[in-house]
Amino acid sequence: MKSLVILISGRGSNMQALLEAKLPLDRIAVISNNAHASGLEIARQHGIETIVLDHRAFPDRQSFDTALAEKIDACQPKLIALAGFMRILSDRFVQRYQDRLMNIHPSLLPAFPGLGTHARALQEGIKIHGCTVHFVTAQLDHGPIVIQAAIPVAPDDTEETLAARVLDQEHRIYPQAVRWFMEDRIRLNGNQIEVTGTSVNGAALYSPGLTE
Ligand code: GRF
Repeated sequence: MKSLVILISGRGSNMQALLEAKLPLDRIAVISNNAHASGLEIARQHGIETIVLDHRAFPDRQSFDTALAEKIDACQPKLIALAGFMRILSDRFVQRYQDRLMNIHPSLLPAFPGLGTHARALQEGIKIHGCTVHFVTAQLDHGPIVIQAAIPVAPDDTEETLAARVLDQEHRIYPQAVRWFMEDRIRLNGNQIEVTGTSVNGAALYSPGLTE
């Protein structure tokens, strides 16, 4: 059975992109650690099973992660997709789901792990920014990269405008990565990933654009 569990904490726009992508799935469940996550309502509107597991009801990270794993395992997922899930997961949890736990991050990793990626990108004056889908390892926002999308940074970009353009790309690459996984097209070799049946186009992205 091809089952997907999506973990969210808030808005859920990446979750929504996954729900609307018509992925080849038999079952989808959404789990949130936050009962007020607006993404939960979006999931319900899509007729998707939702589960709330409030981390504040647990004495420590390990006991929350154990309860979360029980909920996840009941859905027998092929893949677990973190989509704005704002909890750091224990090493034991990450190991349990090794090679089937994916995350979307709003930067071109390994640049800018952690929070506040767009503000930090602007501060650094980088000219090309983007987002990354990767497998989760014990190191935060690190792990084998499945796909990245890059966008040029404009001189008048603000954190908000940059975030919006990166988010558009997140909504494109996350469903793509999950589809590849469900189709068994992702080959993991250490830190390297090969996606069968894909090609790299040779075009470069310049920012600013070249002038003659
Ligand atoms: C996204 O920017 C994602 O890359 C990051 O958290 C944000 C979640 O947004 N991990 P949403 O809840 O999917 O709208």
